[in-house]
Amino acid sequence: MRCVIFSNNQKKCQELQDLLQDTGLEVFTYSEVLNREITVIEDGVTFDQNATKKVLAISQLKQDILIADDSGLEVDVLDGRPGVYSARYGGEGLSDSQRCEHVLRQIENVKNRSARFVCSIAIVFPEKPVETVQGIVEGALTGQLQGNAGFGYDPIFIPVGYDRTFAELGTEIKHKISHRSRALAQVKDKINDFLAEN
Ligand code: IMP
Repeated sequence: MRCVIFSNNQKKCQELQDLLQDTGLEVFTYSEVLNREITVIEDGVTFDQNATKKVLAISQLKQDILIADDSGLEVDVLDGRPGVYSARYGGEGLSDSQRCEHVLRQIENVKNRSARFVCSIAIVFPEKPVETVQGIVEGALTGQLQGNAGFGYDPIFIPVGYDRTFAELGTEIKHKISHRSRALAQVKDKINDFLAEN
């Protein structure tokens, strides 16, 4: 059976593909299957709403298991921002590093650095309604960018229990504890239940 991922972010697709490897499903990105690019306007006010909107953008694939994620960084002293605006925070056209620097400038000299990554995954099984699950990893923001692995805000995020950023810890450790892997663990339970029943 196929699992089709909706995302235009190549690094995120790769993470999801890595994490789904042990399900026994054939995992594809939607562009490999549909041979075209689909743009979804992410105007939801929650991660769940945006993930749902994205997964429904490929609902024409009725025989497959479909998944889409929406994720972002919530910084406590910024009242949860960048949140659902994480991908475009600070303006369009910024690089990942510039976006990290933008966040750090906003909390310069601020003592409370607590933050979390949140990931909502929407999943659709053939002929079933959309379901959503959430994974969270708590942590703290650094004062400067550290490390080269990963993407997005990884160079400024230190997960609880570690003293290095996700970008320094590398993908193996990140995959064990990340918001995305925690959400995906719940997705895998649903996939296994589905496969057992069908
Ligand atoms: P979207 O879910 O594609 O709308 O984008 C989420 C944005 O949140 C990404 O572009 C990143 O900036 C940020 N983000 C989400 N997950 C991660 C992660 O695992 N590491 C670093 N940044 C992330």
